This record gives sequence, C-alpha cells and structure tokens, in this order.
Amino acid sequence: MKSHPLLALVIPIILNLIVFMSLTEGHTIWVHNKLVVGTWAAVTAVDTLDYAHQNQIDQQWSIAHHGFHLTIPDNYTTFYLYLEAITSTQDTKTRGPFNNNQDFCWHFHGSLNDWDVYAC
Ligand SMILES: *[C@@H]1O[C@H](CO)[C@@H](O)[C@H](O)[C@H]1NC(C)=O
Repeated sequence: MKSHPLLALVIPIILNLIVFMSLTEGHTIWVHNKLVVGTWAAVTAVDTLDYAHQNQIDQQWSIAHHGFHLTIPDNYTTFYLYLEAITSTQDTKTRGPFNNNQDFCWHFHGSLNDWDVYAC
C-alpha cells in the first residue's frame, strides 16, 4: 500500500506540536480555598522576591469554597508564591523558593482575619 503524500507533511507537523506542547506544559499549583464561605483568596506566583527584578508568572483567585490553579511554565526553574486572603488585616504570606519540577498543592483555612496556608 502506498502512503499518501500528505502524510509526509502532516506527521512531522503533529510530532512538532506534541514536542512543543510538552515543552510549554509546565506544572500546576492547585489551591483549595477552605476559608469561611464567601471569603476571597488569591495566589500570585513570581520569579524572584527582588521587587526591582520581579516578574509575575501567574495570579489566580477564588471565593470560598471554590478551588483554582496556577500554571508555572517550564522556562521558570524556581518560583515563589504570595498567598493572601483578600481584604484581610493579616499580611500576605510568602512561600518558596520552589523548584518547578512537580505540581504543588496548597490550602487556605480559617476566616478573613485569622487564616493560614498549608501544603497538601
Ligand atoms: C518564559 O516564557 C514566557 C512566555 O514566552 C516569557 O514571557 C517569560 O519571560 C519567560 N521567562 C523566562 C524566565 O524565560
């Protein structure tokens, strides 16, 4: 059976797409917002804690008890997280550095002005 000439074009394109997608896949930070119902939580991923040279990698938020996730692309080897309950009197919490070689999971617990975060 003769192979269709189009396959010679299409197969390399598909293989390239698979390689490209796996390169840009990155890792996921799953966040469970278990604060008191109706409380907003936010997580920001940054590449350094040095404000002068800081780039935001991703930022997501939700109202309890909805979860959310952030994506850290593979071109970041390490990252830090800022975790906050929005409009809380408590300071934002900083965690990291983390190596971007696996998925992570965090959960928020507590109420607006008395909350904490825990690794899953
Ligand atoms: C990673 O890739 C994104 C999107 O192409 C780019 O905006 C960012 O500057 C890159 N970061 C690093 C550390 O290479």
